[in-house]
Amino acid sequence: MRNKVTIVGSGNVGATAAHWIASKELADVVLIDIIEGVPQGKGLDLLEAMPIEKRDSAILGTNDYADTANSDIVVITAGIPRKPGMSRDDLLNTNYKIMSDVVGKVVHHSPNCILIIVSNPLDAMAQAAYKLSGFPRERVIGMAGILDSARFRAFIAQELKVSVENVTAFVLGGHGDTMVPLPRYSTVAGIPITELMDKATLDRIVQRTRDGGAEIVKYLKTGSAYYAPSAAATEMVEAILKDKKKILPCAAYLNGEYGIHGLFVGVPVKLGAKGIEQIIEIKLTPEEKAALDKSAAAVKELIAVINV
Ligand code: NAI
Ligand code: 2OP
Repeated sequence: MRNKVTIVGSGNVGATAAHWIASKELADVVLIDIIEGVPQGKGLDLLEAMPIEKRDSAILGTNDYADTANSDIVVITAGIPRKPGMSRDDLLNTNYKIMSDVVGKVVHHSPNCILIIVSNPLDAMAQAAYKLSGFPRERVIGMAGILDSARFRAFIAQELKVSVENVTAFVLGGHGDTMVPLPRYSTVAGIPITELMDKATLDRIVQRTRDGGAEIVKYLKTGSAYYAPSAAATEMVEAILKDKKKILPCAAYLNGEYGIHGLFVGVPVKLGAKGIEQIIEIKLTPEEKAALDKSAAAVKELIAVINV
C-alpha cells in the first residue's frame, strides 16, 4: 500500500512540497486549503504531470478533511507569509488562529499521523500544534533547521567553489534572528570550515544565513521563500517514510535536553518511521550554549503571548 501525505495550505510552500513529494514518488498526496478551487486546480495540474515524470503518485486537491483521512504524515503550511518589513514574529496571532482551526481537523481524521509544521513563527507554531494535537513529542516536528542549514551550505559551497555535496552544516536554535549557525560542526569533505576560511568571511556567511529568509522576501516583495523550504520539508517526509534514521536539524519539544524544558527549539534529531527517534545532544562551547539559550528565550517570549 502506498503512503499518504496531506499538505495543509496549497500556497507557495504547500504546492511546491506536493511537487517535490510527487516527483520523487514518495507518497500519494492530498492538498487541502481553505480557498475553494485552488487545491483542486493545483492538484489536478500536478497529477497531469505524472505521466511525463513517469511517476505513479496520486494527487488530490480538496477542501474536505475527510479526504485527508489516515494520512501517514501531515505537513502544515497554512498561514500567512511575511512581506517586506515584517518579521516572522509579526505572523504570530494570525497564524495561531489558523493553526487552532487546522490541527483539530487533521488529528480527527489522521489520529496516528506525524505532523510536520512549517507555518511561522515556526517554533511557536510547532509548540501550538503539539499542545493542540495532544500527540507525543515524537510525532510533532518543526521544519526550519534543514532550511537554515541548506542556506549556510549553499553559501559555503559558493564561497569555497566546491560541490554542495561536500558541505555539511548545522544551524540550531529558533527559526528567527537569533538562530545559531555552528561553524565548528560545519565541514567540507570532513574538514571544519573554520580551517578553510578566515573569520571575516565566516562571519559574513553566518550573517547572510541568519538573514536568508529576509533576503528572499526583499526580492519577492509579495511573499517569502518556498523552493528551499518545501525541499526541506520533503527531506523530512522522505526520512520518515523510508525510515532512514537520518540526523537532521529540526525543531523538537525539549524535555531537559540542552538544559531546555518544555519548549520547541531547533536541535539535531534522528528522523525515522516513528518520527523523532532520538534527540542528539552535541557538546557546545559556553558561547554556543549562551547563543542557544538566547534563541530559546526568544521562542519562550512568543509562546507566552499565545499561552501554549
Ligand atoms: P502562501 O500564502 O503562499 O500559502 C498559504 C496558504 O495557506 C494559502 O493558500 C492559504 O489560503 C492557506 N490557508 C490559510 N488559512 C488556512 C486554513 N485555515 N486552512 C487551510 N489553509 C489555509 O504562503 P507560503 O509561502 O506557502 O507560506 C506558508 C507559511 O509557511 C507561512 O506562515 C510562512 O511564513 C511559512 N514558512 C515557513 C518556513 C520555515 O522555515 N519554517 C519557510 C517558508 C515559509
Ligand atoms: C524563511 O526563512 C519565510 O521562514 C521563512 O524563508
